[in-house]
Amino acid sequence: MAHFEIEPDIRRARTLSSDFYLDPEFFELSKEKIFERTWHFLCRESEVDGLWPTAILPGVLDEPVMLARDGGELRCLSNVCTHRGKILVEEPCKANLIRCGYHGRRFSLDGKFLSMPEFDGVENFPSETDDLKQVPLANWNGFLFASIDPKDSLDAFVGEAAEQIEFDIKMPLKLTAKREYRVNAHWALYCENYLEGFHIPYVHKGLNEIVDYGTYTTETFRYSSLQTGHDSEGKVAANYLFIFPNLMFNFYPWGVSVNVVRPVSPGETVVEFLTYVGDTALLDHGAGSDLHGVEMEDEAVVESVQRGIRSRFYSHGRYSPTREQGTHHFHRLIAELIG
Ligand code: FES
Ligand SMILES: [Fe+2]
Repeated sequence: MAHFEIEPDIRRARTLSSDFYLDPEFFELSKEKIFERTWHFLCRESEVDGLWPTAILPGVLDEPVMLARDGGELRCLSNVCTHRGKILVEEPCKANLIRCGYHGRRFSLDGKFLSMPEFDGVENFPSETDDLKQVPLANWNGFLFASIDPKDSLDAFVGEAAEQIEFDIKMPLKLTAKREYRVNAHWALYCENYLEGFHIPYVHKGLNEIVDYGTYTTETFRYSSLQTGHDSEGKVAANYLFIFPNLMFNFYPWGVSVNVVRPVSPGETVVEFLTYVGDTALLDHGAGSDLHGVEMEDEAVVESVQRGIRSRFYSHGRYSPTREQGTHHFHRLIAELIG
């Protein structure tokens, strides 16, 4: 029997059962069923030069990988030596091959085993298992993503939302700030709050003066959703792209704010804010001007919900058909992937 089921018709549907957020079993199951099957943001392609060690979803999957540029080709490789498991590349560097610092095993930049000292006479050696595993890597407009075992292509995950974003995606973007917020709430509560503009008039008084609630829209796609807010003149103030399960790309006139939601425990989440600026002159204007203030308001409600869903008297609620399509869509994907 499926653990969770969410009725496709939003008018009849009930929200995700609170067991999903509270039971540690589902937190663990989400790693394998949701996070290993989806795409994780690594960095901008322009940030990478030579060998670049990183990890797929730190704190959750913690899979050590490296980006390796070999001539024109960029690959994502396992960063674990196939001999006894040492991490191969510890710091970004430039090199024409990869050499393990433990016993000298060498690999080419495409991950192929090259040589190993003191291994004469070893049978069936080297074999394919001595090469570094190549990890699925995808590039969406200069944003790099990796996945352990993707359920679908990155293009399918982003979907048609991409075509509707009003943003000059070719604008050169510079990473100007990185900030981490620690939230005392389940990762999915943080995401589902992001997925509706319903709360804007109640929770974000300042933002509500900039974004016109009446013309706020939400569209859902296979694995993504797009919310659009307009200003009082009808111009797009912000596009909020959510890529399931935990990535938020917020497009503002000045550039892109990327939020990576990283589960820590069933009641604790870290949200990383990466600021990519295209046009500094526009930084203090409009919907993307007070991101910290809006974040504090969101955290307060999300932490309040975390305390509320522990109640013996709460198990699930219902959806607004006009304002909570994004949250309904998110719950349906969780139910689908958890099985
Ligand atoms: S662990 Fe890499 S050579 Fe031994
Ligand atoms: Fe909010």
